[in-house]
Amino acid sequence: MSFDSSWEENIYSQKKHINRYPYGELVSIFFNSLQFLATQARDREDIKVLEIGSGTGNNLWFIAQEGFKTYGIDGSRSACKIANELCEARNVKVNIQQAYFDNLPFDDESMDIIIDREATYCGTLSDIKLWWQEANRVLKKGGLIISFKFSDTNPDLVKIKEGLLKAQEVEANTYKNIESGSFHNTGIVHFSTYDELFDLFSFCDIKLINANTSTTLYDTSNAQYNYAEWIIVGVKK
Ligand SMILES: C[S@@+](CC[C@H](N)C(=O)[O-])C[C@H]1O[C@@H](n2cnc3c(N)ncnc32)[C@H](O)[C@@H]1O
Repeated sequence: MSFDSSWEENIYSQKKHINRYPYGELVSIFFNSLQFLATQARDREDIKVLEIGSGTGNNLWFIAQEGFKTYGIDGSRSACKIANELCEARNVKVNIQQAYFDNLPFDDESMDIIIDREATYCGTLSDIKLWWQEANRVLKKGGLIISFKFSDTNPDLVKIKEGLLKAQEVEANTYKNIESGSFHNTGIVHFSTYDELFDLFSFCDIKLINANTSTTLYDTSNAQYNYAEWIIVGVKK
């Protein structure tokens, strides 16, 4: 178990990271990727979707509302509680429980789709490899993975490497105690290289890798809406 308690203490018990709407990119990638799903499940109510690191359920409620059989796990008890309450308030049926990436409470080959919306970056590269082995265990053959991973061109990593943002190096492209910005107070952060993705997702036939970046040129709100991430879609071989 390598869950950093900062998520519980600094984020979710403070009721942070609660969004009203799902991440826009996830919505379009999710529906565009359904064409690749090669398991037997055809009807939405038979397609089991698991989000690992589901947080406060920002993305799960809408997948449930669209008629899929929806599951989520997160290491933070507070996040799971908030997610369950918000889904109940929206009257959508989800199955969210507290658990860790390295021990998913599901049978082998039981899920059709596994989503990771910026969750499996919270560890060292060897942690992340183990987490995806575990995700692979619960994914059906022909099942889909949709993973969003902060990339090594992320503006915060660039600032760290240029000495403009203080952080403690754990290993290559992996830092903790990031002094400010969106990774502040959230434990270990790993930024993935493009090449690394092929090793991490070697159990998949990779269908898409998208370099998704957001660069704000003019901003009066100081929202820090700058990021760079890979979006990976793959089908389990
Ligand atoms: C950036 S948040 C993303 C939350 C959600 N996917 C979203 O899009 O709103 C990362 C999530 O991963 C969870 N997490 C980090 N390490 C974990 C671990 N080892 N096991 C389970 N959950 C973990 C955190 O609690 C947090 O909710």
